[in-house]
Amino acid sequence: MDAGFNASLIARAEAIAPKQFDAVRLPLVHAWLQHLPEPAAVWARLFAYRDAVDEPLARSVLGEALIQALKSANALQSTNGQLRASLRLMPFAGLLLGSDEVDARFDPVMGPGATTFELWRAVEISDSPRVLDIGCGAGSLALAAARAGAREVVGVDLDPRAVAYARFNAKLNGISNARFEAGDLSAPVAGQRFELIVSQPPFVTQPASVAATTYLHGGRRGDELALRMLSELPPLLGERGRAIALFDSADDEALIDRLTAAVNDPTLRIIAVAAKGLGADQQALGYASTSHSKLGPDYAAAAIAYREHLRELGIERTRHVLVLVERPDSDGAPRFSARVDTDGARLHDAAALTQLRRALDAAALPDAALLQLSVRPSPHALFVHERSLAGTCDDRLRIRFEGGHASDRELSEAAAALIEILAQTHTLTEAVEHYAQMCRATPEQVAASVARFVRESLVNGLLVLERQ
Ligand SMILES: C[S@@+](CC[C@H](N)C(=O)[O-])C[C@H]1O[C@@H](n2cnc3c(N)ncnc32)[C@H](O)[C@@H]1O
Repeated sequence: MDAGFNASLIARAEAIAPKQFDAVRLPLVHAWLQHLPEPAAVWARLFAYRDAVDEPLARSVLGEALIQALKSANALQSTNGQLRASLRLMPFAGLLLGSDEVDARFDPVMGPGATTFELWRAVEISDSPRVLDIGCGAGSLALAAARAGAREVVGVDLDPRAVAYARFNAKLNGISNARFEAGDLSAPVAGQRFELIVSQPPFVTQPASVAATTYLHGGRRGDELALRMLSELPPLLGERGRAIALFDSADDEALIDRLTAAVNDPTLRIIAVAAKGLGADQQALGYASTSHSKLGPDYAAAAIAYREHLRELGIERTRHVLVLVERPDSDGAPRFSARVDTDGARLHDAAALTQLRRALDAAALPDAALLQLSVRPSPHALFVHERSLAGTCDDRLRIRFEGGHASDRELSEAAAALIEILAQTHTLTEAVEHYAQMCRATPEQVAASVARFVRESLVNGLLVLERQ
């Protein structure tokens, strides 16, 4: 960290060909790092981007004593005057975290990756909660929660090497209020309660011909382990407890039913924010690249095996889903299950989730109470009017969301008129009056349809509540 090996250097490297798989982009990342003069570039080449570094250069940056120590710990290997690391070290949420280099061994321990970062963005640590991380890997989320102010954190992982790494990482980062246990899902913490549970279980689908990897495969379909994890949540969630999990699941109508059936507790609220995932071809390439960082016959065989397997399962597209399971704070608070889709690949961050929770609470109100509120169109929504210059089709009115904040959609003329009114009025009571005038009706006659539109639009992100 003193050498400048930090999150901002990693962010610069990650900005190189960002949507390409490592097999394709790493040569460019290596070339960029090789030209950087700062010592942090040597750390990044060795410990973040699996490059081979000439021993004299590595010695000038790390020092002889550290190189010898890492060699004797089998974390650095020397071949033909060059060093390579089997230890990965990644800056994450103000920590430096060790894990296996995924190519270095079969069944590696996963350190912080893109999906870890995605889940962490959605987590809010307030009121010093007691936190559980199910499937903690190298302890990334648990330790980040401890660093962000959690009172106590517990991480559980099936893989004892993951637990060993997590304990090592706690020491490396000077964190003393974190405990790590080996075991299946929540078994090691049975009978305990937590205010916050985080989990990124393995969620990759597993073809029979691909050897099962603990950090990656979640079952034949992929989401089986995630659903089993959800089924264990109810007794673990303390008063006002909240769980937040991230995984992929097939993109079908039954998604929210699968989640609700897994949790199987009508006293809990379930909110699923589902980002548009990849089509099966892309997904197969992505899954193959997780275990093959070089292109070649093994990569090709794995990509084909994943593609065939998805075809057999009838999965043509997946959704990347952030699932919240919450124990509401009072008996009067509404319980519901809701699925909210976002068309971009972007999932909600903690601030957007808070806004969504407020919107869902409002949408659950009866019409009369709902129409007392003040709402406005989302700041990310753009009104788009399309007209065929050749006059070959009718005009189309659409809402487009910048940055994939919600799903784009077509609007009827009535809905478009109502959204224009809502953009200009302060309260829903006023909006109902204006809309009634426009329809040459009484406010009582249009109130129910305005309430229906407002309810749907709060849930799908077109309208947001004014701060009260
Ligand atoms: C996708 S990794 C996530 C690691 C880490 N939480 C993160 O976000 O970077 C999934 C983790 O779940 C662990 N795991 C797999 N099956 C498990 C099970 N049945 N019980 C507990 N942990 C399990 C794996 O060993 C792996 O560390």
